[in-house]
Amino acid sequence: MITLQVSRYRPGQDAEPVFQDYEVPLRSDWAVLDGLAHIKDHLDGTLSFRWSCRMGICGSCGMTVNGEPRLTCGTFLTDYGEGPIRVEPLRGFPVIRDLVVDIDDVLAKLAHVKPWLIREGEELPLTAEYTQTPAQLEAYKQYSMCINCMLCYSACPVYALEPDFLGPAAIALAQRYNLDSRDQGDRFDLLATDEGVWGCTFVGECTSACPKHVDPAEAIQRYKLTAALTSVRNLLPWGRS
Ligand code: FES
Repeated sequence: MITLQVSRYRPGQDAEPVFQDYEVPLRSDWAVLDGLAHIKDHLDGTLSFRWSCRMGICGSCGMTVNGEPRLTCGTFLTDYGEGPIRVEPLRGFPVIRDLVVDIDDVLAKLAHVKPWLIREGEELPLTAEYTQTPAQLEAYKQYSMCINCMLCYSACPVYALEPDFLGPAAIALAQRYNLDSRDQGDRFDLLATDEGVWGCTFVGECTSACPKHVDPAEAIQRYKLTAALTSVRNLLPWGRS
């Protein structure tokens, strides 16, 4: 058996979160999410947490495990020796209940960067076919692997202090479209701002936390370079069009 110390909190009813200990079987094939499911099914049906796919695809099971943002379906109980394992909601987000957090702010930020193909003179929905070479696909493919799990936001010290910061996943998502050969959009005014790429202090925790090996820190640095070159070009009389 191994002890899961689980954060319990009902905002509006509880003064503050408290940790509750549960003993769950220590099995080599059990992830932390399986331990939580065991609690829910056999020990305490009032525990609230999110999950869906159990295979690292849906992005819904992100929590803080022993202080680090992790996908709980891909984090095994045996990774923590004899325990205990402390399970908390993702840091940096308002708690709805127990391990469930409110992600509406980040979802709005993802929508804010226009995450769709923009074509000059063409209205949505696009119906034409635009082909790409493997090299053109490779240019943005890494950024398209994001599963919106919010781990990067939970790891980001800037988002914790500046909630207006657009944040790692939203900027990586914008770059996914900026680097797509089929896209003709302009996201400069959305990204080259103090709340956009210039807000990032390049700690790099977002990249370390990503379970899909997306590299938001690299996306941000690349866009900073693009923004700087664009700004310089616009200052030059012959650079303006
Ligand atoms: Fe879907 Fe973990 S349950 S990513």
